[in-house]
Amino acid sequence: MAAMQGRRQLLPAAAALLACLLLLPSAARGRNITAILDGYKEYKLYNKYLSETKVCDEINSRQSTSMTILVLSKDAMTTLAKDAGGSLAAIKNALRLHSVLDYYDRRKVKKYGDESAATLYQATGDAVSTTGNVKVVDQDDKNYGFSAATPGARICTVTKEVETHPFKFAILEVTAPIEFDGLFDTPSTANLTRLLERAGCKVFAALVASSGVLKTYEGAMDTGLTLFAPNDDAFQARDAPDVKNMSTADLVKLLEYHALPAYNPKTSLKAVKPGAPLRTLATTKAGKDHITVVAKGDDVSLDTGKSKSRVADTVVDSVPFCLLTVDSLLVPPELYVGAPEAAPAPSPAEAPQSSATQAADAPSLAADHADHADHKTNKKTSSAVASRPIGAFAAAAAVCSVALASLL
Ligand SMILES: *[C@@H]1O[C@H](CO)[C@@H](O)[C@H](O)[C@H]1NC(C)=O
Ligand SMILES: *[C@@H]1O[C@H](CO)[C@@H](O)[C@H](O)[C@H]1NC(C)=O
Ligand SMILES: *[C@@H]1O[C@H](CO)[C@@H](O)[C@H](O)[C@H]1NC(C)=O
Repeated sequence: MAAMQGRRQLLPAAAALLACLLLLPSAARGRNITAILDGYKEYKLYNKYLSETKVCDEINSRQSTSMTILVLSKDAMTTLAKDAGGSLAAIKNALRLHSVLDYYDRRKVKKYGDESAATLYQATGDAVSTTGNVKVVDQDDKNYGFSAATPGARICTVTKEVETHPFKFAILEVTAPIEFDGLFDTPSTANLTRLLERAGCKVFAALVASSGVLKTYEGAMDTGLTLFAPNDDAFQARDAPDVKNMSTADLVKLLEYHALPAYNPKTSLKAVKPGAPLRTLATTKAGKDHITVVAKGDDVSLDTGKSKSRVADTVVDSVPFCLLTVDSLLVPPELYVGAPEAAPAPSPAEAPQSSATQAADAPSLAADHADHADHKTNKKTSSAVASRPIGAFAAAAAVCSVALASLL
């Protein structure tokens, strides 16, 4: 009896230890919809679209929100893709509508009856009023389903409760895609110059057109392009290079440095590992002129290694293209005029630095040239960096960046 009791206490402890060892990396990051759906062959196509549209990053970024993901079998997903005219941007709208911002399962629906629930589609501001909601419908017998919020919309019955983690997270398979008139509407991206001008980036738009880089951008818009457009004020900043007096080659480099050859909306930028280099259109084979991301809560900044620029607004998000505005110019390190003459050469010793150290470096460089006001800002930034809690996540991130650095 005593032995059994001893074993009973030991087993859970051992199991907990094992789970801890196995799950440590994922526990630090939380639930990962892509990894979960990888375990279900029948949702492979759905999962593929979830990744291509980056809706997976939106779902993963809401770790503390109760969510229900309405998944589709291969046939239903094929129907959805066809209805969307094969457009990834249109499919993204639908997948957002299928990401419900509340928890549902049969027990809850049978207990509380019909409800209206918000979705990611609505949360991202693409829809006005409640068009982006879905209706949760209590049906006959044991059945329940979901439909669009429009009157008379067809009800898509839940055919399988794939995973239910009560009141946190559920994955439910529905018979058919939920659709409504206008769901597949996407913004026009036909005239990039006009988009830039309307977003308050007239100077940038003019440079892009006159330098010929417009063609480069347009050429990448169908395959994957994230464009960071500085607003007009950014060109007036003290440390901004004089674009009027730049060689064409340097100007082209500067403009190409403002774009990534991949689709990285703001939520996805937030999910980029700290310190991981992102390729820009200016990145050379030798790996020069990449950019890193610094994310803090909802704030996302881009770090050139010499200066940082905050990502402001999403102007257009239309897979595989997105246009974001930034508060200051992204200047390739070798063109950075604000850099001090005798700056310590960026040596290989810089590589193992954590992103936190890099973040602290940039403002201190600026401070060398700064007036009193800038000094204050610098202090604030440094103390914010210093007071960051060293939690499990920070530790994991540090391990990650060291591992990453050793790969480089
Ligand atoms: C989520 O899982 C996928 C597939 O297993 C993996 O490629 C991806 O890096 C993971 N994302 C995060 C944020 O851990
Ligand atoms: C794009 O928009 C700009 C500014 O509104 C305009 O000058 C230009 O003619 C437009 N280009 C095309 C091809 O329509
Ligand atoms: C433009 O650059 C040249 C040399 O690169 C320099 O001599 C000249 O002063 C600059 N002009 C302005 C207006 O900055």
